[in-house]
Amino acid sequence: MQPLLQVINITKHFPGTLALDQVQLELLPGEIHAVMGENGAGKSTLMKILSGVHQADAGQIKMNGIPIRPSNPREALTLGIAIVYQELSMIPTLTVAENIFPGHLPTNKLGMVNYRQLYQNAAQVLEKMYVHVDPRVSVETLSIANQQLIEISKALSSNCKILILDEPTSALTDTEAEHLLSLLRHLASEGVSILYISHKLNEVFALAHRITVLRDGKFIGTEKVADVTPDHIIRMMVGRELGAMYPDKTTERGQLLFEVRDLRLPSSDAHNSFKLNRGEILGFAGLIGSGRSELARVIFGANPKAAGKIFLNGEPMDFHSPQDAIKHGVGYLPEDRKAAGLFLDMSIRFNIAAAVIPQVSTNGFLVLAKEKALAQGYVQRLGVSTPGIEQEVRRLSGGNQQKTLVAKWLAIKPKILIVDEPTRGIDVGAKKEIHFLLRKLAESGVGVIIISSELPEILGMSDRILVMHEGAIAAEYATADATEEKIIRSASGQ
Ligand SMILES: Nc1ncnc2c1ncn2[C@@H]1O[C@H](COP(=O)(O)OP(=O)(O)OP(=O)(O)O)[C@@H](O)[C@H]1O
Ligand SMILES: [Mg+2]
Repeated sequence: MQPLLQVINITKHFPGTLALDQVQLELLPGEIHAVMGENGAGKSTLMKILSGVHQADAGQIKMNGIPIRPSNPREALTLGIAIVYQELSMIPTLTVAENIFPGHLPTNKLGMVNYRQLYQNAAQVLEKMYVHVDPRVSVETLSIANQQLIEISKALSSNCKILILDEPTSALTDTEAEHLLSLLRHLASEGVSILYISHKLNEVFALAHRITVLRDGKFIGTEKVADVTPDHIIRMMVGRELGAMYPDKTTERGQLLFEVRDLRLPSSDAHNSFKLNRGEILGFAGLIGSGRSELARVIFGANPKAAGKIFLNGEPMDFHSPQDAIKHGVGYLPEDRKAAGLFLDMSIRFNIAAAVIPQVSTNGFLVLAKEKALAQGYVQRLGVSTPGIEQEVRRLSGGNQQKTLVAKWLAIKPKILIVDEPTRGIDVGAKKEIHFLLRKLAESGVGVIIISSELPEILGMSDRILVMHEGAIAAEYATADATEEKIIRSASGQ
């Protein structure tokens, strides 16, 4: 079969970084082709070159055998290449319909926007996507999942031949992700070619025909999914044998560290009580929206509670703000890294040291050498791929931003650390590293609470597991008798 798209020896430099080094890729008509690789491997950069956001320094792209060189996204769209970015890129205050058809709104004879026509067109696109939202509401009122589906609808409204999706399911629930995957299969069967970036191996193996792996900007290989195992792909991505993803669990139980008694969330009538011991990793499972993050934010003083008591080392506590909680040794790594206090315009060094000024000061004066040593240490341990610790966080790849956030909270050395989806968007190697760092933290006496939508991660990491359902702790399992089935059943209220 004649390839629809050929990427031939594409090279791209950024200041201090060779993001792509003679990369090649071939996409067949109707093919779903996954692109995988560690954080910073160059996946998003390659997609941005195909969609006209960046231009390559060298190399060639051919579509149907003819060289193309889109110099902006609009030109790429005219050629039939549409992209759904890793970070959502809609205008939140505009309506769904206006976001789907930016720049080409239908007008009437007087040149005014024909809203009836616009809403009708949008409704058609949404129906094709099986998305049930009103095209007249503004995008900011929608869930992240629906926003993601609107982004995809927007790309499809251009009748593209090549659809590029950059980690589209990282903010979706399993059901929503399933829905998206079946939609993509349907599109491919109608002849649309799909380039699909994801860190989720099971997803890629369920969806793609072929996988191309990049490492450090270099092309490592393209494999048919039917011919390889996930382990083989992991080896291609990290360049070595990775070993176990999860550290050994603790056998001894530390002293009581933290207790929550009859805590009620504003969204529910349930009274929630649980205890956390020193050295323990307590897992919180549950569906998205079951109250796990809300509970964490209440404990952390970021949200008000409706009722209940919190004890730290036996002392009653009532945190009125996150600063208050941090001062008492409670840390919370939230699920949304953008809203999470990463200063995007500042350096990695600044971000890691920001909350631990005393640690990097002498006699009240900031010591640059200490700050540098702290940041450098974490950048190495977590394998943040960057030309240096002075790099602005904005210029890091998505996963490397997440690693910086994790480093920031590890540096605070809290007594209790709550991590909410800590490995979202993170590659397998770094994921393993974060798992082992969390266990080490626990072994040093810290109480760790991990919230994750990935059941293998919850099962692999936790000494004990609580399952939430509709704002209530619905079940508790010792790690030895927890299974995915049991957790799913409790999470869905059975
Ligand atoms: N605008 C930019 N300026 C400078 N460097 C950049 C820029 N965009 C990307 N880079 C660098 O290029 C390299 C590749 O980044 P890219 O975003 O393509 O990685 P990725 O494979 O998509 O990673 P992730 O899985 O974390 O999203 C990284 O080292 C990154 O820091
Ligand atoms: Mg990326």
